[in-house]
Amino acid sequence: MSQVIIRKKAPSNYRLFAICPGGLDQILKKEVEALSAPILDVYPGGVEFEGNLELAYRACLSLRTASRVLLMLQESKKIFQPDDLYAAVKLVDWPRVFSPNCTFAVYFTETQKKGRRENVNTQYWALKAKDAIADRFMERYAERPNVDRADPDITVRLHLHDQILKIYLDLSGNSLHERGYRVEVGEAPIKENLAAGLLLLAGWDVAAKEKTPLLDPFCGSGTLLIEAALIATNTAPGLLRHRFGFFSWRDHQPKLFERVSEELKAKRILDPAELPMIFGSDASLDMIRISEKNCERAGMAEFIKLTQARFEETEAFQRKGLIVTNPPYGVRLDEAEALVAVYQAMGSTLKHKYKGWTCGVITSEPKLLHAIALKPSKKWVLHNGGLESIYSLLQMY
Ligand SMILES: C[S@@+](CC[C@H](N)C(=O)[O-])C[C@H]1O[C@@H](n2cnc3c(N)ncnc32)[C@H](O)[C@@H]1O
Repeated sequence: MSQVIIRKKAPSNYRLFAICPGGLDQILKKEVEALSAPILDVYPGGVEFEGNLELAYRACLSLRTASRVLLMLQESKKIFQPDDLYAAVKLVDWPRVFSPNCTFAVYFTETQKKGRRENVNTQYWALKAKDAIADRFMERYAERPNVDRADPDITVRLHLHDQILKIYLDLSGNSLHERGYRVEVGEAPIKENLAAGLLLLAGWDVAAKEKTPLLDPFCGSGTLLIEAALIATNTAPGLLRHRFGFFSWRDHQPKLFERVSEELKAKRILDPAELPMIFGSDASLDMIRISEKNCERAGMAEFIKLTQARFEETEAFQRKGLIVTNPPYGVRLDEAEALVAVYQAMGSTLKHKYKGWTCGVITSEPKLLHAIALKPSKKWVLHNGGLESIYSLLQMY
């Protein structure tokens, strides 16, 4: 039999968990601190913190590196087998969380299997949780909400670690990296929240205030440029979204959400005279056209200049600046081999034409980083989708 520890739903003090790509937890922690939220814990893939409803809205709208913000509904221990999970999930007053007219989806993950009595697959645990939610509704209304995994109104996330089950309501709905501005992409686009993380790791938030120029010479669909402009203009990335997971939550307060959104909108810096220059270039004219469209959609076009150019043919236009970029990378070894020349040319261009600049470059292949032939001053291992990548800062003296 499971044992409930706490029902985390004192409206003034929720327990919240923001998830981020692996390796960005310290940057996410700083972002959470900037919201003045008390931090409870930091994990390799996220930050746990406390806050009221207003703070939860602020987190969903403002956190640039988060992919999700979850709200803890209940924590239960001694969860050994699916029946324990069923009993624990059924204890949550689900009809208080959402209406039976909403659709829902349940996701289950676990990080340790210590002491587990039964060896069952995670799909089955998720199915048991779904049954528990449906049965709780049946007891109250004699009807149950439908499951919709493709586009649910409500997403419930369960995490089991050492027999402790955490039951969360996903406040984000679709992943927060989906800001909504990127309708067209090229090859291997970087996720928006990872792009924001690369910029913040390179110190772009500070550099932008000092009006240091920024360049992405392999800009593709413009993700890094748009995220750079969002940071420079102090635009909360969630302001571009039209939907969040909490819209169908019974405790959602639309007026409060609107007030928080309006407050954040008022904090934007939109006078070009106060902003740094942001430049993007790419060898492909098609990619420049796609970038233009995405910059427009993000409302950032007037702050970003785009040109078609091969990086080797460009020169620094100021004595000092920041490059943050995601050059082409090969997943397979033969693809990586073919790219060595591109990285050698990149290294030589940086060394000879961009003296005084700093360059943050992400690549999945150590061999390619080596081909740049510049010693990184700092390095991080980050998760780019399914790929472990190296993000390096290079100083050109
Ligand atoms: C991995 S993609 C960049 C993706 C981008 N960060 C995004 O989110 O869409 C690499 C880009 O480098 C461009 N490229 C390849 N070789 C180049 C070169 N020598 N100079 C400039 N751009 C180049 C490609 O056209 C491609 O758009």
